[in-house]
Amino acid sequence: MGASQILEDINASVDFDHRLAQYDIEGSIAHAKMLEHVGILTAEDSAQIQSGLLQIAEEVSGGIFEFKRELEDVHMNVESRLQQIIGPAAGRLHTARSRNDQVALDFKMWTRAALESLDEQLSNVVDVLLQRAQQHHADIMPGFTHLQCAQPITFGHHLMAYVEMFLRDRSRVKDALARISECPLGAAALAGTSYPIDSQFTASALGFSRPCRNSIDAVSDRDFALDYLFTASTVSMHLSRLAEELIIWSTTQFGFARLPEQLTAGSSIMPQKRNPDPAELIRAKSARVFGNLQTLLVVLKGLPLAYFKDMQEDKEPVFDTADSLRLCLRAMTAIVEGLEVNTKRMRSDATSGFATATDLADWLVRGLGLPFREAHGITGRIVRLAEAAQLELHELTLEQMQTVDPRIQEDGLKALDVDRATAARLSAGGTSPVRVLEAIDEAKQRNTSRN
Ligand code: ARG
Repeated sequence: MGASQILEDINASVDFDHRLAQYDIEGSIAHAKMLEHVGILTAEDSAQIQSGLLQIAEEVSGGIFEFKRELEDVHMNVESRLQQIIGPAAGRLHTARSRNDQVALDFKMWTRAALESLDEQLSNVVDVLLQRAQQHHADIMPGFTHLQCAQPITFGHHLMAYVEMFLRDRSRVKDALARISECPLGAAALAGTSYPIDSQFTASALGFSRPCRNSIDAVSDRDFALDYLFTASTVSMHLSRLAEELIIWSTTQFGFARLPEQLTAGSSIMPQKRNPDPAELIRAKSARVFGNLQTLLVVLKGLPLAYFKDMQEDKEPVFDTADSLRLCLRAMTAIVEGLEVNTKRMRSDATSGFATATDLADWLVRGLGLPFREAHGITGRIVRLAEAAQLELHELTLEQMQTVDPRIQEDGLKALDVDRATAARLSAGGTSPVRVLEAIDEAKQRNTSRN
């Protein structure tokens, strides 16, 4: 293999950065308008350049643009095609610009759009979770810690925990969008330019609030991509935890829910199976998203200012993340929407496993004025008594309980009722159906007001 082929193979980025084409063209059109505005380009040249670029945009969106590897990257491909279409005037477009500020701009615009579409998908999954939470705001299930039955909660309350996570993710997106508002175009190679450009003109034309404040930072900064990858990683982690719960709930052993049949895979030999493949892949794809964040951090961490070709390795982790996350969010939204919930099974599990032991202890404190530690000890002995008799707490008679502590009265037994236990947890953010309905209303507002 000849040296020039080796160079092309290692240097070319067009195989992936062709995905920036639309933004490259948009940025170039704004740049041409600005050059005309400040008198660097004549109106004729500017018009020719713009119409050539629009033609290229159509070729790209129509899928007929021919990207060539020997032209290295998307920027050179677009420029060379412009040359073919309009001739020498094309050469004037690159005045007061470098590929360094150009690629920073394109990538920033791509990432901004990815953040916006992530936000929309997050608001969709929140909507669906809110609907399901409303439907199940008073349905009892066991709440777990250590995956051990802990206390009864409502299924709606459990789903609302994910609503909080995804709403926090939306606020992370919002923060990232606020920081992505500075336009790198005009930084040129790294030092700015001696041409009398109007950087605010291009910034405004491209939807940024202002130009970057430091030209060296403008071409060397990829924090916006890291912001995106970190936000995406947190979203993926949340999705993965939910996926894991769905997988557990849908086992025969738990039987809390069945995943929508179209979103499960059958087994070729075991006809009874509904394998949760999409949920498993949501869980697994979080790994590559975290890896992508790590990749970009490592690419950047040793680079002196300003630009190095290392930075060409910034795009694939972001593209791969966006592709994976888009799929995962679509899948999760559909799974939550179509989930078949077995409220009977959830409820019966909440009444077993001594889930209301804390409520008995609380009654001993409230009803008998005992210190909580003593109440905890008495309840522990009652639990052991029930275990020995192979009974649930609510199946013990008052007399049996009184063998542990004769002060216990009829009223104490009522504390073991799961509906009462749940309804009583009225503290802020608690599981009482009353609080859950309030939380749903409040979250609905946050979800529609774009935070
Ligand atoms: N394809 C390059 C990248 O993605 C564009 C910038 C090239 N700049 C340079 N000085 N070689 O980073």
